[in-house]
Amino acid sequence: MRAIQIVTTRLSSCLRPIRLEFVSSSSPQLFSNTRRLLCTAAATKSNGGRSGSIVAPLVANEEGEEVQKIDVNPPKGTRDFAPEDMRLRNWLFNHFKEVSRLFGYEEVDYPVLETEALFIRKAGEEIRDQLYCFEDRGKRRVALRPELTPSLARLVIQKGKSVSLPLKWFAIGQCWRYERMTRGRRREHYQWNMDIIGVPQVTAEAELISSIVTFFKRIGITASDVGFKVSSRKVLQEMLRKYGVPETLFGRVCIIIDKIEKIPIDEIKKELGSTGISEDAIEQLLQVLSVKSLDDLEDVLGGAGEAIADLKQLFSLAEKFGYSEWIQFDASVVRGLAYYTGIVFEGFDRKGNLRAICGGGRYDRLLPTYGGDDIPACGFGFGDAVIVELLKEKNLLPELGQEVENIVCALEKDLQGAAATVATTLRSKGQTVDLVLESKPLKWVFKRAARINARRLILVGKTEWEDGSVSVKVLSSGEQFQVKLNDLE
Ligand code: HAM
Repeated sequence: MRAIQIVTTRLSSCLRPIRLEFVSSSSPQLFSNTRRLLCTAAATKSNGGRSGSIVAPLVANEEGEEVQKIDVNPPKGTRDFAPEDMRLRNWLFNHFKEVSRLFGYEEVDYPVLETEALFIRKAGEEIRDQLYCFEDRGKRRVALRPELTPSLARLVIQKGKSVSLPLKWFAIGQCWRYERMTRGRRREHYQWNMDIIGVPQVTAEAELISSIVTFFKRIGITASDVGFKVSSRKVLQEMLRKYGVPETLFGRVCIIIDKIEKIPIDEIKKELGSTGISEDAIEQLLQVLSVKSLDDLEDVLGGAGEAIADLKQLFSLAEKFGYSEWIQFDASVVRGLAYYTGIVFEGFDRKGNLRAICGGGRYDRLLPTYGGDDIPACGFGFGDAVIVELLKEKNLLPELGQEVENIVCALEKDLQGAAATVATTLRSKGQTVDLVLESKPLKWVFKRAARINARRLILVGKTEWEDGSVSVKVLSSGEQFQVKLNDLE
C-alpha cells in the first residue's frame, strides 16, 4: 500500500490526474509496473492526451487486479462515429449515393490497405510525405490509401477488356493522410469520388461538375455560398512547350506551382530553376497563373490552342447544364496531384474561410503509368469534413434524431414473450420497433419513446392479449385504441 501512496503523489505533482485505486500486491514487480505507468502517463501528457506508448499503463481495478488503462480518445486526427455522428454521416453519404444514382453511376470499393508502390510517384507530391505506410508481417510494403484514384486505375487495368467503356463509377471510402491538422483537414477522412473512364471529351468534366452542383443544391448550398475555380493543365503544358521544356518535367512543374500559396515566391522560383527551366520561362509561367479570364488567356497564349478550346467548351456546356453562375476561370488552379493532364477544378467557399471543398480533373495518362492501356479518364474527390464545416457555418446542418416508429412494451413480466411476438409481427410488415427488454415503469417507457422519436407506443397487457389484441397509443395526439394483432399495421 505504501508503494501506491508514493506513486499517487508523484502522479498528481507532475501529470494530469490519473485515478489510482488498489493494487493487489506490493511485490517488486509492482515497482517496475509503476515505473511503466509513469513513463506511459508522461508520454500521454506530451501527446495532447493521447498515449504515445505501445503498452497501456497499468492500474488497479476495484477488485485489486492490475488492468491496462487505455486512452479513450481515438488516435490524433481520427474520429469515432457515435450514433449522432453516424446519423449525420449517413445523411451525407445518402446524398452522395443518391446523386451518383441520379447520374447513372455504379458503386465500387477497394481495400483501404494497398501496395505502397501504387502511391509512389516521382513528382514530389505532398501526398507522398503524408503516406501511412509500413511493412506487413509478410515483409511487403503497404500503405493506407491517401486517395481512391490509384485503386480505381488498378481495378480498371485488372478488368481489362472485360468491361465496356465508358465506365461511370462512384465510391465513398476512407482515406488516410498524415496531414497538419487544420479546420476541415484530418488524418482520416471519407471521400466521395465520381469518375468517368473512357471519355476524352470535355463533356465528361462538364457532367462531373454538374453532379457536384446537384449535390450542393440538394443540401441547401447555393452559388452564392460556393463556386468552382476551373483551369486546364494544358495551359502550363503549352507554355512549357513554347519554352522547349521537356514533357517529362510537366508533373513536377505542376506540383511546384501548386505550392504557390503555401511557400514564398522566391522558393517557388528556386525550385522551378532547379528543374532546369530558364528564368524567362519561369517569369512567363508565373505571369500566366494570374490570368482570370479566358479572353486574357487567349491573349497570353497567342490565339487558339487545346487549352482554350477545352475551357470554352466547358463554359458553354455549363450553360446548357444550368450551372454557369457556379464556375469561373482561374489559371492559378493547378492541383497538387501529378497525374492531372487537362481540365482541373476545385470547389471553394466564397467567404474564403475554408480549404478546398472538393477537387478533380482529367488524368488521361494515369493508367499507362501503371502499365495499363492509354484510356482517358477524369473524376473528382469530395471530402466529408470541409462540407460539414460549411453547413455548420451556414446553419444548414440537419437535425437528425433517432427514429424508430414503434416502441413495444409488455405491461407484465410474463408477457415479455407476447411483446416479442408483437415486435416480430410489426417488423415483418416493415415497421421499425424498439422492444423494451426489461420490466420498466411506464414513465421510463414514455421517456424512452420521446428520446427515440417513436410515433406509437404499443402496450401488451394481460386482458387485451387474452383477446388477441394490443393497446396502441399515437404519441403525437395521445389517441389510444385497441387493435387485433393481425390487424396491426
Ligand atoms: P484531393 O484534392 O487530394 O484529390 O482530395 C479531394 C478532396 O478530399 C479535397 O478537396 C477535400 O475535400 C478532401 N480531402 C483531402 N484531404 C483531406 C484531409 N486530410 N482531410 C479532410 N478532407 C480531405 C484527390 O484525392 C483526387 N484523387 C480526387 C480525384 C478523383 N481526382 C480524380 N478522381
